[in-house]
Amino acid sequence: MGNTVIIGAQWGDEGKGKIVDLLSEHADFVVRFQGGNNAGHTMVVNGKEIISHLIPSGIIQQKKCFIGNGVVVDPFVLLDEIDYLLKNGIDASAKMLKISNRAHLIMPYHRRIDSAREDKIGAQKIGTTGRGIGPCYEDKAARRGIRFCDLLDFDLFKEKVRAVLDEKNFYLQHYFKTETLDPETLIREFESIRDRLIPYIDDVSVILDEGIKNGKTLLFEGAQGTHLDIEHGTYPFVTSSSVVSGNAANGSGVGPACFDEIIGIVKAYATRVGEGPFPTELFDDIGDRLQKTGSEFGATTGRKRRCGWIDMVVLRNAAKLNSLSGLAVTKLDVLDGLDEINICIGYEHKGKTITNFPAEIKILQECIPVYETHPGWKQDISKVREFKDLPVNARKYLARLEELSEVKIKIISVGPGREATIIKERIFK
Ligand code: GDP
Ligand code: IMO
Ligand code: MG
Repeated sequence: MGNTVIIGAQWGDEGKGKIVDLLSEHADFVVRFQGGNNAGHTMVVNGKEIISHLIPSGIIQQKKCFIGNGVVVDPFVLLDEIDYLLKNGIDASAKMLKISNRAHLIMPYHRRIDSAREDKIGAQKIGTTGRGIGPCYEDKAARRGIRFCDLLDFDLFKEKVRAVLDEKNFYLQHYFKTETLDPETLIREFESIRDRLIPYIDDVSVILDEGIKNGKTLLFEGAQGTHLDIEHGTYPFVTSSSVVSGNAANGSGVGPACFDEIIGIVKAYATRVGEGPFPTELFDDIGDRLQKTGSEFGATTGRKRRCGWIDMVVLRNAAKLNSLSGLAVTKLDVLDGLDEINICIGYEHKGKTITNFPAEIKILQECIPVYETHPGWKQDISKVREFKDLPVNARKYLARLEELSEVKIKIISVGPGREATIIKERIFK
């Protein structure tokens, strides 16, 4: 396998974790490059479910894992996740995992501001995961963030915390009318975990570069999905990082010429968790059925995911923005038993046809999906392992997705387990 980037093509939860776990077998290094513990990636191996929020999913296959400079890391969540993995027999010690010295720390005030802000804006809320992601990226851009390398010089760390809390406490107390944080207590909390964190801190960019020079294979694990991207998503109903493949280079400190494959993960239907426009959302029995059959609950917050038909305006946009070289279609089994399956091929807006994803939220909210209807299949496909054994209507559905997206389908997933996979075209030897 060449160096491969995995990107969510829709609004997240496409099944990236499963595909990263599967492909990790053929990788040496697995790298997260953006987002934080807003992500929830689920792997099912030998019937056992593991959910990771921060640590690359390649840890399950015990590959060397890296958290790049573009990720925002809540160190308390990280340590809990390391312990959780260890309890499940997975080594996530500093031998297996390195965190970029340039990665920013999600601080307790980031979490507090995230939820206070959502509470204050009420009906207009984004529906964030409440993990402090947005406030942490805000501080990064405002040049007052605290990075992992700051933990190495604890006097400097203390100075930074005291200075930043002066401002945050004013904001918390006077704007949000909520509790403030005591800098000395916060410093003590970090003092108690600092020794555990230090062995993990390294210059990830340098290690990856050496790896590339020594012929190692790198797998980059995207979090969220293209339409939650801060630049290209349904702004402001987006996350605060750049999700698209271009950022796999920037967020991990490698050059953009090192990618050989960019695989878009796409659910055979569509889901979204949190607020924001979703043109193909279903509010009927079929939507309920997709939600129940697909067990569509958020892996991070447990919220019910909104469900709808697959949207080719969205998928074509993802193909364009990410230079997708292939698709992995997941959860095809969830469509089993439906009489008919719809594919959204464009939108209608005030008598006009729209085929490119609009920037304006209001327009997107007013768009009416234009559907092409395909016959479903009645068989259970969860045991199918060869493309040729899929029902003819399932093959036709996939062929139409390929045709409309102009991207080849390379992997098809028919169940949550690692084994429930059809390799249509090998991207590894
Ligand atoms: P991620 O955030 O993109 O990694 O996706 P999540 O893990 O949040 O959500 C995907 C969910 O679908 C998880 O519960 C997976 O175990 C499950 N899943 C992945 N692929 C398939 C599939 O092909 N079929 C079914 N039925 N479930 C799947
Ligand atoms: P994975 O990696 C689905 C959504 C939230 C909210 C918006 C902003 O598992 O696919 P944030 O906390 O990031 O500020 O929330 O983004 N969101 C996700 N939705 N999957 C995710 O990650 C998500 N990460 C964030 O629900 O609408
Ligand atoms: Mg998820």
